[in-house]
Amino acid sequence: MASIKGRPLHRRLALPLAAVTVAAIGALTAPAAAHAGDVNPTVVGGTRAAQGEFPWIVRLSMGCDGALYTKQVVLTAAHCVNGTGSNSSITVTAGVVDLQSSSATKVRSTYVYRAPGYPNNNDDWALIKLASPVNLPTLPAATTSAYNKGTFTIMGWGATYEGGPQQRYLQKAQAPFVTDATCGSAYGADFEGPKMLCAGYMSTGGVDTCQGDSGGPMVQRDGAGNWIQVGIVSWGNGCARPGYPGVYTEVSTFASAISSAASQLP
Ligand code: ARG
Repeated sequence: MASIKGRPLHRRLALPLAAVTVAAIGALTAPAAAHAGDVNPTVVGGTRAAQGEFPWIVRLSMGCDGALYTKQVVLTAAHCVNGTGSNSSITVTAGVVDLQSSSATKVRSTYVYRAPGYPNNNDDWALIKLASPVNLPTLPAATTSAYNKGTFTIMGWGATYEGGPQQRYLQKAQAPFVTDATCGSAYGADFEGPKMLCAGYMSTGGVDTCQGDSGGPMVQRDGAGNWIQVGIVSWGNGCARPGYPGVYTEVSTFASAISSAASQLP
């Protein structure tokens, strides 16, 4: 896990929580330092989200996150699912920041669509159809690259440091855009600019998504002040390390493929 260079993307992607072995966790390095002033470091370097702040985020039972693309379809990462087809094995927890809340909405999957360009073409996105619609706000996907810059908001129930435990309460943080040129020099041939969007503090590290955040949304405010999804948590070298930004699926690149797949789900 410490070194990822030279490996194909599907080998490099950290596994969803359920697949992480004790041995793999043991191999991970020490916690990254949180940014000064954060008393409760989370995601890595974040804080607890308020109930209702990100009403469209969901937790997936295999140990990933996702977002409500429609009331009955979740957008997540391809590396969180096994393939395309009927699938009732995933439980989706929605509507809460506290995963143990008795007011959580829980709904099963009925079908999974994994991007056909995964794993060979680095297309790290997938859709999960729910057994019934949930009555929560949805998160629109960015359809242009106009918002692939500036400061992003990242979130999830994943680890708050490399090798750390999953979280009960949803965590959030902000991380700045990292250019394709900079991200490409960090990751070399593993980085594919048009399909990947990077975020983090290059020189200090300290703020990032981490294992178990995969599939969750990276968001930005659009011109009207509404949240739109610009990224899907995908991969990185460790978590929050200086010189290694988080890498996210570039949603705008796949927006039309996502839209057409969502409209054709059985
Ligand atoms: N692939 C990881 C997962 O399955 C997410 C890794 C994100 N890493 C990062 N440094 N931003 O949960």
